[in-house]
Amino acid sequence: DWTSDSVIADQVARIREQVGTSRVICGLSGGVDSAVAAAIVHEAVADQLTCIFVDHGLLRQDERRQVEEDFVASTGVRLVTVDAVDQFLDALTGVSDPETKRKIIGREFIRCFESAADALVREAQADGEAIRFLVQGTLYPDVVESGGGSGTANIKSHHNVGGLPEDLQFELVEPLRALFKDEVRAIGRELGLPEAIVGRQPFPGPGLGIRIVGEVTRERLALLREADAIARAELTAAGLDAEIWQCPVVLLADVRSVGVQGDGRTYGHPIVLRPVSSEDAMTADWSRLPYDVLARISNRITNEVPGVNRVVLDVTSKPPGTIEWE
Ligand code: XMP
Repeated sequence: DWTSDSVIADQVARIREQVGTSRVICGLSGGVDSAVAAAIVHEAVADQLTCIFVDHGLLRQDERRQVEEDFVASTGVRLVTVDAVDQFLDALTGVSDPETKRKIIGREFIRCFESAADALVREAQADGEAIRFLVQGTLYPDVVESGGGSGTANIKSHHNVGGLPEDLQFELVEPLRALFKDEVRAIGRELGLPEAIVGRQPFPGPGLGIRIVGEVTRERLALLREADAIARAELTAAGLDAEIWQCPVVLLADVRSVGVQGDGRTYGHPIVLRPVSSEDAMTADWSRLPYDVLARISNRITNEVPGVNRVVLDVTSKPPGTIEWE
């Protein structure tokens, strides 16, 4: 019968057997799956593991710190952060089309990850060691969705910025392949990972880049990050996290409307709240949030986020609307 304890012990034994004395790398996204996969592998092979975290500048408030400080403190994992903010924002300059943005973000991610991995491979060679393995946080539903193939690096590539090229020279270590999301969260808690990571709601690989309708700029990211942090804080404070599947917060950067704030008229941007309830993200319904919670979020965002003078609520189910706006 299933306990987090026995799953961890079982995986630790398997990983040790698979990996031997080789070194191992793992990409962290800030999300649950990669964090738990890394933590189990670290439990098994300790310092043979190095994690790579790409900061593409499209993360939410506090996410980088959660990985660099809280995750590292709770696991002792060796982490390499790639600060690629300028690289991503340069590549996104002048681009508004959603698919083009996704392609650029995916391409730059692979470039960053590969060059970080190459550096680690060279470092290992200099030590007379090798890196033969790459950890992936593939879950059971991902296995089913992708037709059950194993051993290749063709994971979630259609839908995940972490999708890696097929020609990667690594064998995969996939300790979560038999598990569902709630089991992964239980294991993460058992391993003592920070609740902010273990309890995190789904967040797309391309991050805030696909939550700015229009060109992605530093200023717009800063603004959206603030609005998103306010919405998340208020939803959590209201005890609604368990009810909501996720709540994208979207900046309509190409739209302006007239407002009145303080002693003058403004011409600012709307923020869209997109709270949804769902089982698996394939279909979704808009969440009937309490009006007083919506009012608090709206008041705080318009008062605290400069340049935003309107907050609107998305009341579309999926289908026909997708959960994300891009
Ligand atoms: P949509 O917008 O298609 O989203 O209804 C369904 C779920 O997938 C998430 N999503 C992504 N996740 N990379 C990801 O890892 C992506 O490119 C991506 N696009 C959407 C979305 O947040 C929702 O949970």
